Amino acid sequence: CGIIGITGRDDAVDGILAGLTRLEYRGYDSAGVVVRDGDELLVTKRAGKLDNLKSALADEPTSGRVGIGHTRWATHGAPNDANAHPHLGPTGRVAVVHNGILENYQALRAELDGATFASDTDSEVAAHLVERELDAMDTPDLFEAVRRTVARLEGAYSLCFVALDDPDTIVVAKFEAPLIVAAADGVGYCASDVAALIEHTKDVAALLDGQLARITPDGVEVRDLAGNPAEPHRYTVDWDLSAAEKQGYDTFMLKEIHEQPRAVADTLLGRFDEGRLHLDELQTDEREFGRVDKVFVLACGTSRYAGMVAKYAIEHWAGIPCEVEEASEFRYRDPILDPHTLVIAISQSGETTDTIAAALHARDQRAPVIALCNIVGSTLAREADGVLYTHAGLEVAVASTKAFTTQIVGGLLLALYLAQQRGRMYGSEIEDILGRLQQIPSALEQVLELDGEIRQLAEQYQAVPYTMFIGRHVGLPIAYEGALKLKEISYLHAEAFAAGEMKHGPIALIEDGSLVVALAAAGHVFGKMVSNIQEVRARGASVLAIGTEGSTADLKANADHVLTLPEAPHELAGPILSVVPLQLFAYHIATLRGEDVDQPRNLAKTVTVE
Ligand code: G6P
Repeated sequence: CGIIGITGRDDAVDGILAGLTRLEYRGYDSAGVVVRDGDELLVTKRAGKLDNLKSALADEPTSGRVGIGHTRWATHGAPNDANAHPHLGPTGRVAVVHNGILENYQALRAELDGATFASDTDSEVAAHLVERELDAMDTPDLFEAVRRTVARLEGAYSLCFVALDDPDTIVVAKFEAPLIVAAADGVGYCASDVAALIEHTKDVAALLDGQLARITPDGVEVRDLAGNPAEPHRYTVDWDLSAAEKQGYDTFMLKEIHEQPRAVADTLLGRFDEGRLHLDELQTDEREFGRVDKVFVLACGTSRYAGMVAKYAIEHWAGIPCEVEEASEFRYRDPILDPHTLVIAISQSGETTDTIAAALHARDQRAPVIALCNIVGSTLAREADGVLYTHAGLEVAVASTKAFTTQIVGGLLLALYLAQQRGRMYGSEIEDILGRLQQIPSALEQVLELDGEIRQLAEQYQAVPYTMFIGRHVGLPIAYEGALKLKEISYLHAEAFAAGEMKHGPIALIEDGSLVVALAAAGHVFGKMVSNIQEVRARGASVLAIGTEGSTADLKANADHVLTLPEAPHELAGPILSVVPLQLFAYHIATLRGEDVDQPRNLAKTVTVE
């Protein structure tokens, strides 16, 4: 689900295709573009990858100075040509692309008596409505027609319109789905994500909910739903084009796996001064942290597994009870919170709808919300009371890697900070731990050297249809993450279990030839892990153990393969190292099987719909 709009360039189509290419990483299943060519809006759209759209445009080129493009991740209606965006109004005078879901589209369609629709989407109705508004005006004004239309929409949207009546103008509207606008060198832009604009400008503005913008080659004018001038969130992007390119790696995912030492070092940078841990960016009243008596960590997908590691650290160091929950569940129940409950919402993108909604749900009960987030200026970062940024840089591959390891670092920092503010730990203890955490980047470099060995294992196991991951304590979230990585990009069945739960059911699945990946770093549960390894092995499983230097001897006697990682500088930081071999294992299995690791089927990088 990506949007890019350009006005004021003769080759708008080329610019739009380049922008859509930068947005590919978000995941999509069809793509399309519309340009105004004289007195016609020309739409080209195709199901499948962007290449299908590009070859359609090569066969029948279109050109114009204003246009919009879209990559669609299907919600309403199958991913086919007809349902791909853009959609036209009934007489072809208005075109729209849309991210989000229009919840009342059926009622709106029913109102448009006799209209015929070319798609099954919720979005098409928006083009009809705008065209109808234009028809009713003496002097057609696209901005005004869009303003009247969006006032009637329910649901989430970033909408982007062009119309024949208002040449060279793009009008956009935003509610609960991200939309960025910018103008540079006589060209106006809009996009769902700064990655699409980074080659044109770093100075951008994120529209806030309920804002609309009129974009022309001369600039951008932002207004609210009532039509009054409004101020968007303006900011400067802090990474450059190289972040959006593969730089010699075959895939973004591999590049990002290898960027982890740097990303972790950057996230740790400059946190300790004058005997205290400082998280200045949080911008909250320091004393508030001292009064926290309960923590909820809310997140989705990989980010939630980082949150599970944070839970162990918060309970261990800060001595505060902590729960971790799927944001999608939390938002629809009646959790008990109060102003002493701290909510940590973890999101790489800061745009995941469920995580934002869960954070707001918590704030309704006056709980302070801290975002642990990778994207400056994102919705979650803006909505939260304070933000701790991970410094992973742009993450392009759908399957999260460096964002995850930096989220773990962020979680450890927050746990130490809570411990400090509550007086549970002294500056010297914290300094000691932070000093040890500084060793992680070089330890990560060592882990990355296991790549060749991991690839060989992937060759051996690439056809195993089912892999079970087991772990205990901080190894458990990594088992979950290892299983998630494997299923996300290789489409092989993988599940993770708490090793101690095996006897209560999952061990029944083990038979000759099963593959079990065991997280078995040295630490206080190591002996228990060895017993669990023996149990699955005795039932015919092949075991790949992820161990550490101190645990290798025991593992070699009990597992079929042992990957030996350097000892983590602290047991709670072990996951930052132990996840890396699992990322590489999933990566090699997927590439050996010929899968598209950067853009796995059915998945989106940023899930801006429920
Ligand atoms: C999607 C992505 C995952 C990610 C999750 C949460 O499912 O494919 O990689 O972990 O969203 O995303 P967030 O941006 O909130 O961390």
